[in-house]
Amino acid sequence: MNPILIALDVPSAAAALALTDALRGSVAGYKIGSQLFTAEGPSIVRTLAERGDKVFLDLKFHDISNTVAGAIESASHLGAWMMNVHASGGQAMMSAAAEAADRAATAGRPRPLVIAVTVLTSMSAEALASVGVHRSPAEQVVHLALMAKASGMDGVVASPQETTAIRDACGHDFLIVTPGIRGGSAEQTSGRQDQSRTMAPGDAMRAGASYLVVGRPITGASDPRSAAQAVIEELRGTGLFSTDPAKKGTGLS
Ligand code: C5P
Repeated sequence: MNPILIALDVPSAAAALALTDALRGSVAGYKIGSQLFTAEGPSIVRTLAERGDKVFLDLKFHDISNTVAGAIESASHLGAWMMNVHASGGQAMMSAAAEAADRAATAGRPRPLVIAVTVLTSMSAEALASVGVHRSPAEQVVHLALMAKASGMDGVVASPQETTAIRDACGHDFLIVTPGIRGGSAEQTSGRQDQSRTMAPGDAMRAGASYLVVGRPITGASDPRSAAQAVIEELRGTGLFSTDPAKKGTGLS
């Protein structure tokens, strides 16, 4: 299946809708994060969901269990397909989020996918130590991924470099959603921008990613649809990409 999720890091609904109109049919779905959500509010989620688009609502909920559960229910009502929480909110918070997703499903809607952010890729070992975490970032990522799995999360967000270790620890039914895609067919004239721990699309899939979050290499291209097609061609070369839903690649769902 197509694993490409487009990061709609744009300031307005008009800009987001122009991108989704250009890319519809060539990608799996769209990620709405803090910038677009804060500018346009829930209506942009509803609008895309009503058009049949898969929306990953990337608001990284991190609060007491009751509040996070309520946020998951609200996001489900908007029609979001995937949403996320911070794993560092703990097992009870993640379990409450998973139970809220289950309740959303029993209310006649499809169960949303809930995934956990482990360690932000901007956190170095030094930055982790400064907040009292003395494991290496790689160890902390696997620790939190295992906790997320035990709490009923459907998967995690992880940098491409962490994917193999998480896949080994958490198995093949666990979603790994990977940003930081650069190089290969996702190379831009402007280079890596602010991303540092990057991987090309094909390599990220081979490492075990389920979905690739791609922003500027596609959204910043003069022809976003052609840029997406170039990534698709690279992914076809891995043998892990199929337009035939019956033929799933390893780790894809
Ligand atoms: O434009 P680019 O491809 O860098 O976009 C990547 C997207 O993934 C952005 O929306 C960014 O916020 C998000 N992200 C990330 N690194 C993480 C978590 C999320 O780049 N560790």
